Amino acid sequence: MDAELLLAHVLGVSRSRLLTLDDVAPLEGDRFGGLVDQRADRVPLQHLTGRAAFRHLELAVGPGVFVPRPETEQLTGWALERLAGIDGPIVVDLGSGSGAIALSIAHENPGARVTAVERDPGALAWTRHNAVTRVAAGDTPVGVVAGDMTDPALLSELDGRVAVVVSNPPYVPDDAVLPREVADHDPPLALWGGPDGLDVVRGMLTVAARLLHPGGWLGIEHADQQGVALPAVVRAHGGFADIEDHPDLAGRPRFTTARRS
Ligand SMILES: C[S@@+](CC[C@H](N)C(=O)[O-])C[C@H]1O[C@@H](n2cnc3c(N)ncnc32)[C@H](O)[C@@H]1O
Repeated sequence: MDAELLLAHVLGVSRSRLLTLDDVAPLEGDRFGGLVDQRADRVPLQHLTGRAAFRHLELAVGPGVFVPRPETEQLTGWALERLAGIDGPIVVDLGSGSGAIALSIAHENPGARVTAVERDPGALAWTRHNAVTRVAAGDTPVGVVAGDMTDPALLSELDGRVAVVVSNPPYVPDDAVLPREVADHDPPLALWGGPDGLDVVRGMLTVAARLLHPGGWLGIEHADQQGVALPAVVRAHGGFADIEDHPDLAGRPRFTTARRS
């Protein structure tokens, strides 16, 4: 499948169009071969094509930014469901990377006022690039803020006004062994979350609790092994109720949600 997608990328056609192609010109064949070699050397497909599909969007990605994953589409869908029926809800995406969550929410709920926060300057360039592209395509603008999701003063102008805080934070435990596509190509700041993977989440909860209005929702993605630990960390904070964990489509624990009490 990756080889087909790379050939379609080189030829500038859809994957299904490959079925009706008789031949590939030598120059394009060489380019295709080069890309297949890089993919065999574990460069992520999305870095080779420069594009990542996420819900209804196609986002620009490359070295320096985390490639959005299908699991996160589900967390984004959950956030969108929480916003249904609210007039002009304020939404904050903490650790926005390519902007996948924030830009999808703005695309699918044009009335939402979305702020994307990103700490890594390298990733922030991609957040801004994708945000500008989406505005040019007609979407509601998303505010992009350089900031640290654990900073106690982050976005203090939104204190108590936010309907949904959503985050796919770095959550990989320090001793985890990752596939080369991830370890060598996703930025370190997007991955590592301390000894149990939950250091950034612990720091972020105080910020989320301050931003959310009473009854506002928090949704945080996590690793398969954190389906008990992350809800426990949210419970220990003390500022949240209705704490629940949700499986992904493969049935593995994937994200925790809670309501500001
Ligand atoms: C796992 S990636 C998720 C990116 C994007 N939200 C997605 O789902 O594809 C985590 C993102 O959080 C950013 N990040 C890590 N620590 C952060 C912090 N303390 N404050 C803000 N952003 C942070 C990383 O740079 C990275 O872009």
